[in-house]
Amino acid sequence: MAMATTPLTERPAYAALAEHFARIEGEHLRTLFESDATRGERMVAEAAGLYLDYSKNRVTDETLSLLFELARQSDLERRRDMMFAGDRINVSEDRSVLHVALRMPEDASLVVGGVDIVPQVHQVLGRMAAFADRVRSGEWKGHTGKPVRNVVNIGIGGSDLGPVMAYEALRYYARRDLTFRFVSNVDSTDFVEATRDLAAEETLFIISSKTFSTLETLTNATSARDWVVGELGDESAIAKHFVAVSTNDERVSEFGIDTANMFGFWDWVGGRYSMDSAIGLSTMVAVGPEHFKDLLAGFHAMDEHFRTAPLEQNLPVIMGLLAVWYADFFGAQTVGVMPYDQYLKRFPAYLQQLTMESNGKHVTLDGTAVDYQTGSVYWGEPGTNGQHSFYQLIHQGTKLIPVDLIGFGRSLNPLRDHHEILSSNVFAQAQALAFGKTEDEVRAEGTPEAVVPHRVMQGNRPTNVLLAEVLTPRLLGSLVALYEHSVFTQGTIWGIDSFDQWGVELGKVLAKAIIPELESTSEPALAHDSSTNALIRRYRALKG
Ligand code: F6P
Repeated sequence: MAMATTPLTERPAYAALAEHFARIEGEHLRTLFESDATRGERMVAEAAGLYLDYSKNRVTDETLSLLFELARQSDLERRRDMMFAGDRINVSEDRSVLHVALRMPEDASLVVGGVDIVPQVHQVLGRMAAFADRVRSGEWKGHTGKPVRNVVNIGIGGSDLGPVMAYEALRYYARRDLTFRFVSNVDSTDFVEATRDLAAEETLFIISSKTFSTLETLTNATSARDWVVGELGDESAIAKHFVAVSTNDERVSEFGIDTANMFGFWDWVGGRYSMDSAIGLSTMVAVGPEHFKDLLAGFHAMDEHFRTAPLEQNLPVIMGLLAVWYADFFGAQTVGVMPYDQYLKRFPAYLQQLTMESNGKHVTLDGTAVDYQTGSVYWGEPGTNGQHSFYQLIHQGTKLIPVDLIGFGRSLNPLRDHHEILSSNVFAQAQALAFGKTEDEVRAEGTPEAVVPHRVMQGNRPTNVLLAEVLTPRLLGSLVALYEHSVFTQGTIWGIDSFDQWGVELGKVLAKAIIPELESTSEPALAHDSSTNALIRRYRALKG
């Protein structure tokens, strides 16, 4: 039954969940586990190389069936099918949302507006592979005839975070004789530090920008162009040292990059969903076309799981519904994501854009203000480092913070017993968070009475544990797609547009007006609010 047009809080399953929540809010995970010996084996799901244990969540079988009911009443399956069919579900920008097409196999077909887009995707992938091979083999020569040894991606947001995260995550598979750097911040320090030890004649810049109009990226790209031309003394060097990744060929050629050296994508790929498009060019140069193909295969495996598995066994659906459960019923404000793999150190930063730019929305698709919480704040750090800094608050603080713990069966760099120590912490943290330590247990350890309350661990803190064999390109693809579709699930329940980002625009416009006021050599007439006026005056005085 399609009911998505009914406001969320008026859907029958939502009301039932509210009533159910009042009854089970106080239930402790200790009791839930004591009363069901099979819970840890039952509340699991598996797909595309990922095993999800969601048993340590504050849910009962009834909670889960109400959440699945809510998904159905929110039209999740139909909206998912609409996305895969290329319907314009990004309503505020009137666009299709087809990142799933980027990883469809070559023999697949997806006709959108009368055109099969899969051959287009593979045509670009073919060009990327040919280029990556030329750089990797040394056949692509710089202006002075030397092969490329350094690749610098210039981009920001989705044109940076995916490439950086993927490079770090797949470093084990990357060419070690090539140096990769990523410049995103318009702070000149970022560009200067990234290039200070590089020889321009051996450096290739990939200018990545979907729109090719982002001020930060164009500013950095202009400085890169000046640097190359300055070092090599010749404008014609640009052709050998710059390639572009964009949807906007006009702007690319205006900037001075030959569109023969441009790799395109399409407006139906959102920036934060683009790491598997041509935006992944630096990834492909680093790990090679075959590994990139495996990455796409991992994405596709999770897409197929999301598209076809029953909701009750569907990993992204389960994770998305749990996120809604904590945000809207428990009032949780944040979700922690802790990968127990050093290679995934930039994964939480990547997820911040994916989740928060997607679901940080205050109105529904038809523009009505929501009367419930939407997107949570996502954050995290690799384990075990986080345990020695902020985990204290998760264990004993006053806030409820659901946590995803991500672990692997094998290390890519085995060394003595490091991996067992690392992995034991995944399981121990999930245990400690769920079951805690009672007053009686603390006393039984001979703790002085005055210290007992300090050492009590209430437990009942929820976790998801994700386990996989080993971090491969394929697994990384599955993991990213899992979170992409979890975001989709959450956005669908909330009835919001997860694919626009109007909230980032106002700041850009205001900054554009302020730039000349900071640059002006004569005292500008300021007409902002009194705080902004005073800050600008103070800045001008500080700058001297
Ligand atoms: O300002 C936000 C944003 O539009 C992101 O959505 C996007 O990933 C980023 O800027 C960069 O945009 P572009 O790839 O067009 O330079």
